[in-house]
Amino acid sequence: MSRLSKPAVVVNFKSYSEIHGHGALELAQICEQVSEETGIRVAVCPPTAELAYVARSVKIPVFTQSVDPYPEGARTGWNTPSLARTAGAIGTLVNHAEHRLSDGEIGKTVVCADTPRAAAGVATFEPTYVALEPPELIGGDISVTKANPRSITESVEMVRNVSSKVGVLCGAGIKTGLDVANAIELGAMGVLVASGVVRAVDPKGALLDLLKHL
Ligand code: G3P
Repeated sequence: MSRLSKPAVVVNFKSYSEIHGHGALELAQICEQVSEETGIRVAVCPPTAELAYVARSVKIPVFTQSVDPYPEGARTGWNTPSLARTAGAIGTLVNHAEHRLSDGEIGKTVVCADTPRAAAGVATFEPTYVALEPPELIGGDISVTKANPRSITESVEMVRNVSSKVGVLCGAGIKTGLDVANAIELGAMGVLVASGVVRAVDPKGALLDLLKHL
């Protein structure tokens, strides 16, 4: 998987109603425009059903939201890494609080972790990124940078002690440019964000706001 330059903003579309059907492509195009206008790398994670359609239509990095750890073949209904790759994904989220995998199923990806200790644990697999996301803050309005800044600095330090190749993102409740600036200040390489962009009345304005201090 190619590495995103610092800082990186990863927008996870989840399965919110706003991105059903054409909504996924529209939001991906907005992310692409904002990335072009600001020069900041923005990656998107559309749902599996829209993955190929989105990946064919935009030039920014496209990730899947999860993959199932199986090879190609007789695998009904599973989203295998080879399917995701050929649909145009350059990587995947893994182990999101809303889609946990066992240790043995985690590969080289963006791996989500809910504590600094868990972040250091999954860093041993040397994924591209570990994203620290306290589950209780996901989808809310209190940013992880405000509620628990220490968990970010600790994750950065603990992950660095495991491997200098692994980047740390943080997420949950990220809604403003100040939250993103604070995340970078605390040592994160970027943020993983969902509702602050996907559910915004004006997603482009919301994304531009997130990037304004970078
Ligand atoms: O995958 C990102 C996510 O879980 C954070 O969600 O809505 O708090 O930005 P949100």
